[in-house]
Amino acid sequence: MTDWKAYQQRTADGRPRETLERALKLFEKPGLAIDLGCGAGRDTRALLQSGFHVTALDGETSALVKLRQQLPEEARERLTIVRDTFETMNLAKADLINASYCLPFVDPARAEVVWKNIENALPRGGVFSGQFFGVNDDWATSGLWILARAKLEEMLSTWEVVWCREEDTQGMTAMGAEKHWHVYHVVCRRP
Ligand SMILES: C[S@@+](CC[C@H](N)C(=O)[O-])C[C@H]1O[C@@H](n2cnc3c(N)ncnc32)[C@H](O)[C@@H]1O
Repeated sequence: MTDWKAYQQRTADGRPRETLERALKLFEKPGLAIDLGCGAGRDTRALLQSGFHVTALDGETSALVKLRQQLPEEARERLTIVRDTFETMNLAKADLINASYCLPFVDPARAEVVWKNIENALPRGGVFSGQFFGVNDDWATSGLWILARAKLEEMLSTWEVVWCREEDTQGMTAMGAEKHWHVYHVVCRRP
């Protein structure tokens, strides 16, 4: 699951993730958002369409090139594109941090620091949306950041959990392979 270029090609035109759509409903007016692991920009474009100023970050240049190609002209000045890794990034303060299907790929040894950085970048009322992978996931033995439910609950214990759905089902990858998904879809807010 590290051929990100092929993944970007397949998913470039995808709809925004449900977690982001739910997060956006929490805002009466747009603010500052960070889209971590933005890929080809399916969520970045939805954020821009909602009027947010967006910093889109990804470690892959090919993703950022694809994102740039598909931007509405009027939104360009509200977007900052950053090539960096989750492990080395500096996060500015934001109202919303979106991390769709990307935090499981953080170096597990650095994951707690990355999560702390996300917490620290969100002031009171700030929103996080994204996914975490659980222990039953087929990729759980692939060196990814995997969370047992109890660990996820501990991590979110200092947050207001707005929405959390656990998916533990057989399905397909974006590349068309069969896979067991164990995913926590999370929208939460700093109290
Ligand atoms: C599965 S894709 C998700 C893309 C998009 N958010 C979506 O929902 O379709 C994961 C993205 O995270 C990026 N990524 C993975 N590990 C990363 C890391 N350690 N630092 C920065 N970006 C990373 C990849 O380049 C890829 O674009």
